[in-house]
Amino acid sequence: MTETLADLYEARFGEATDLGKDRPAEGEIARQLAHRSHRRWADKPVDDDLLQLLFAAALSIPTKSDLMQYAVLHVEDQVKKDRVAELIPSMAWIADAPVFLVFCGDGRRIRKVCELRGTDFAHEELDSFFNPTVDAALAMSAFIRAAEGEGLVTCPISAVREPVTEISEMLELPKHVFPVAGLCVGYPDWEPWVSLRLPPRVMVHKDRYDDANFEAEIDGYDARRAERNPMKRQREVEKYGKKELYGWSDDKSRQVSHLERGNFADFIRRSFKI
Ligand SMILES: Cc1cc2nc3c(=O)[nH]c(=O)nc-3n(C[C@H](O)[C@H](O)[C@H](O)COP(=O)(O)O)c2cc1C
Repeated sequence: MTETLADLYEARFGEATDLGKDRPAEGEIARQLAHRSHRRWADKPVDDDLLQLLFAAALSIPTKSDLMQYAVLHVEDQVKKDRVAELIPSMAWIADAPVFLVFCGDGRRIRKVCELRGTDFAHEELDSFFNPTVDAALAMSAFIRAAEGEGLVTCPISAVREPVTEISEMLELPKHVFPVAGLCVGYPDWEPWVSLRLPPRVMVHKDRYDDANFEAEIDGYDARRAERNPMKRQREVEKYGKKELYGWSDDKSRQVSHLERGNFADFIRRSFKI
């Protein structure tokens, strides 16, 4: 039985720790350590008042320069939800999700404010794309946290950027507004496995970036993860061969070995001069 934060840490990283041994598995840290993305939903609707409160919570995040450069699209129309599912057929969990949202970067609003008040908009273009992206990602993260605190579960969907033109047209996203990620929201139908993370010593650096132990750390992580949840199938076997020990690093390096979303840059360049 999970009793302390140390137990949750062990489940998250696959390594025992004394950290949090004396703290019960409660509160926000416990909830975050126990996070899982879900892809199956209980047959239970999400109350609209709760949803509106979750939006309010998500909109309470810090925002770059107080600019609030994001927009959340709640895709409620069943015809549109079906269309999203049709455009991303490999992810059945989208069609079934009780709620489907698209978190967007919004560089339009501030440009319109400038027009309204008769000022120039002179921000550098890449930065003016990057800031809304960060704001939208933070808003989605805040929504996830708030939702999980209410017993809901979620699955982010970056795959909305695959058919990005179709999705944007369907949602009537104007110039300078672009999808960052979708988010399925619902109640859990089952408890998926905790996805093991690389340990904090790999991800958190003190005073200087240091990956001197890179290979040993990746090998160690592969081994811990293979013990807990071995990869079920190997990618790109024809190109890279079949391996006896096929770990996370094999899987992820093969995953990124071909182009993904080649059309996204062009889509963004229709709005931003980058
Ligand atoms: C920005 C972002 C985009 C994601 N896109 C997808 C997606 O398109 N489809 C999907 O099934 N999961 C998606 N995920 C979920 C990740 O696969 C998941 O977070 C990761 O495997 C770790 O699992 P965990 O969230 O259960 O810890 C996405 C997550 C993030 C943060």
